[in-house]
Amino acid sequence: MSATPATPDAPAAPVPVVVVGAGGMGRAWIGTVLGNDAARLVGVADLLDGAAERAVAETVPESERAGIATGTDMLEVARRAGAEAIIDVTIPAAHHTVTADALHAGYPVLGEKPCAATLAEAVSLAGHAETTGQLFMVSQSRRNNPHLHEARRLADELGGAGIVDTRFLKAPRFGGFREEMDQPLIVDMAIHAFDAGRVLVEGAPVSVTATSYNPSWSWYAGDAAATVTITYDSGAVHTFSGSWCSPGAETSWNGEWRLSCEHGSVLWDGESPPTAHPAEGPERAGRTPGSEDRWELDASLATFCAALRGGQAPESEVHANVWTQAIVEAAVRSAGTGARVQLADLLDGALAGARALDRADGRSGALEAWKTGASGLTTG
Ligand SMILES: NC(=O)c1ccc[n+]([C@@H]2O[C@H](COP(=O)([O-])OP(=O)(O)OC[C@H]3O[C@@H](n4cnc5c(N)ncnc54)[C@H](O)[C@@H]3O)[C@@H](O)[C@H]2O)c1
Repeated sequence: MSATPATPDAPAAPVPVVVVGAGGMGRAWIGTVLGNDAARLVGVADLLDGAAERAVAETVPESERAGIATGTDMLEVARRAGAEAIIDVTIPAAHHTVTADALHAGYPVLGEKPCAATLAEAVSLAGHAETTGQLFMVSQSRRNNPHLHEARRLADELGGAGIVDTRFLKAPRFGGFREEMDQPLIVDMAIHAFDAGRVLVEGAPVSVTATSYNPSWSWYAGDAAATVTITYDSGAVHTFSGSWCSPGAETSWNGEWRLSCEHGSVLWDGESPPTAHPAEGPERAGRTPGSEDRWELDASLATFCAALRGGQAPESEVHANVWTQAIVEAAVRSAGTGARVQLADLLDGALAGARALDRADGRSGALEAWKTGASGLTTG
């Protein structure tokens, strides 16, 4: 799909997009597209008959509904609607098929986290992006938090974060799939903290050690609590300890953060501006975000559309985002075996699995040129 680049005189034309997957998060994405000038909603698709139509009826103002195509076949809807890009908000098990099909049909994809259901599928999608030459960006909404980036800036002023500590303690009663999963906290929630940790420290993650457990009073079938340690090639270490069944004095949804640097510390409660605490001198409050700052889904969409209109490659482009999924998969494996997991080994195994997937599929040979799982990735 050709894109119209922005010029200094002419603002970029909005990118016509189809939202695929009309569940809870799909509705949030429909609202985000409607409120963002960089994109234009031209269609909604969902596998379930009638689901796309219901989502449009519930989320789009009546005056705007006529121009929005709906249906069960994503590519048919995209072609009929004249879309230039796809936003994949389906369940994780469908991400690989939906994203690969969209890329091969010529549509760049902005996909909800996780990149795919498994690390091998995520690596495979990096290959499909290479083969098709289309952009595949993963939306990690909590990465798009101006306070998080301010915490990084403050830490850099103090010499750079060498120790990052996150505490996440909440007690939500979701019902549904999260209460049935083996590793609900690590897979569904801690992925955000692992990804945010990558914003705060320099370099690529190297190894992961994890312990997961389920307190006696937990209302989850799987492990609702975990402690995870991630080492980086810069020497930095990120520790995460969290629980989804800890009522009382709960943290924010972003967790509480403490960054230790050579010349001081940075504290962030996950909600308000972070504060710098130099070894010498007074405490300093971080910048308060202004109206020009973009947050969460809105920021992902703006970045994606800007890249399609000739802007810079997004930091959550698939080759950089795979590291976040690798940390999640390594944490699950370490929690299961008790052993430290080296990401290079995990990624080599995922590369072998991805090549097998791609050979069976027949559409992408790009991964055959990768020397190792890690060497094919970028650090963003
Ligand atoms: N960023 C966040 O904070 C956040 C929060 C919640 C969910 N999510 C992510 O958003 C995604 C969707 O989650 P949800 O809670 O909306 O799930 P959901 O189950 O409510 O909705 C998913 C929808 O996708 C549809 N679907 C499944 N397979 C499809 C296919 N092949 N083609 C078209 N439609 C298909 C289903 O029919 C369903 O309507 C997941 O990847 C989830 O991890 C992110």
